[in-house]
Amino acid sequence: MKKKVFIKTFGCQMNEYDSNRIYDSISKIGYHKSEDQNNVDCYILNTCHIRDKAKEKVFHEIGRVKEIYRGKNKPIMVVAGCVAQAENQEVLNRDPYIDIVIGPQSYHKMNDLLESNIFKKKIEETEFDSVSKFKYYDEIENKNNNISAYLTIQEGCDKFCHFCVVPYTRGPEYSRPFYQVINEAEQLVKNGVKEITLLGQNVNAYYFKDNTKEYRISDLIKYLDKIKEIKRIRYTTSHPKDMTDDLIECYESSRKLMPFVHLPIQSGSDRILHLMNRKHKVEDYLNVYFKIKKLNPEVEFSSDFIIGYPGETEKDFSDTLKLLEKIRFVNSFSFVFSPRPGTKAANLKMVDSEVAKKRLITIQKKLFNNQIELNKSMENQKIEVLIENKLSGQNKLFGRNKYLSSVILEGSESLIGNLVDVKITSSNQKTLFGIIEKNMKAA
Ligand code: SAM
Ligand code: SF4
Ligand code: F3S
Repeated sequence: MKKKVFIKTFGCQMNEYDSNRIYDSISKIGYHKSEDQNNVDCYILNTCHIRDKAKEKVFHEIGRVKEIYRGKNKPIMVVAGCVAQAENQEVLNRDPYIDIVIGPQSYHKMNDLLESNIFKKKIEETEFDSVSKFKYYDEIENKNNNISAYLTIQEGCDKFCHFCVVPYTRGPEYSRPFYQVINEAEQLVKNGVKEITLLGQNVNAYYFKDNTKEYRISDLIKYLDKIKEIKRIRYTTSHPKDMTDDLIECYESSRKLMPFVHLPIQSGSDRILHLMNRKHKVEDYLNVYFKIKKLNPEVEFSSDFIIGYPGETEKDFSDTLKLLEKIRFVNSFSFVFSPRPGTKAANLKMVDSEVAKKRLITIQKKLFNNQIELNKSMENQKIEVLIENKLSGQNKLFGRNKYLSSVILEGSESLIGNLVDVKITSSNQKTLFGIIEKNMKAA
């Protein structure tokens, strides 16, 4: 019998990847992806726990689902992802509407749990079993046929930054076997994928060893570089401590690795980095920056910043602003520190919230200006864009430039999947707008 499922995904790219794999998995037991969340047999929330309010968001969503299904057959309600892992049984206890709570390392059990739900027993499954999860992912087909696709190569974290829940929600660092990653990449290529983004919470800590050889992320990049159909390679999120020379050299040797490094630093003050347990200094970060820039000057850097970490003084914050004078970060993220239960920083004395907010506004203004400046510099230039899709309801195409900025242009649907030279006519902070002039290439 055909059943329908809808997955609502919060949080990072790793959740997006998992949601796609869950669709792949449960199609084997008759569930088909539905775009209409108002009429499904199974409703899955794939949740994020990185900042506060995440848990409340989950219960708010469940309230909404209850409203939608009032007077109709209730869907099987599943809470997956990092809130499920962090709160496990507590999620089930809080609302009887929830049927299944499943953590990110247990998705290989999803089909069995859904099938056993006919007994109407509440289930919580939050073991860390990355080996079985990825072995299972390897056994089922990855049906993603978007132009740009994510591919998880590493999961979990052993670094334990004092502010962060990830080591608790995703478990210890685990790298997928090299051959699994290659198999999946080749499957994606067969589906028509042109850009692969390698994913991991510490993606550049990727390390796999078999009888004969050790493999790092640079080996994966080199392998993918040789696959003709792949036009672009990216990876995220990396940690400054794991930016080894073999990876840095890829910015010179790889033709397809995009010149855009998302490398979170969190703060420009060594004192705060130490308090955060980041295991790197500002100088280490600058060394990586200058090494890469020397090899390939067109590389741009993006970062994450936590503002108002407990103990952050005006001097620490001004050190962060000083770093922004040395590196023109683009496409970056900044958030006020949010205390997370169970982490070392959970109960530290907070910076005054008004002060933290003011600092956030100051840094965001600078970061947004950098983005506007970079986008403006592309006006009247020809840039290469990978065309990903047609914008729904509009006669326009959507693509991205090498720095991951969105580009909107007019053009024929036949260009989807191609690298196209686009002349940028205008821009704002988020988007570039362009046209394809005659005689421009589509590769
Ligand atoms: N592994 C990556 C790294 O080491 O930089 C980051 C992964 S984390 C999923 C993404 C970002 O969320 C972090 O870079 C950090 O800026 C932010 N973040 C994590 N915990 C936070 C917290 N408690 N409050 C505010 N922002 C937080
Ligand atoms: Fe979180 Fe730090 Fe691990 Fe990144 S390195 S996932 S910020 S604990
Ligand atoms: Fe959120 Fe979990 Fe990703 S906490 S950011 S969904 S690893």
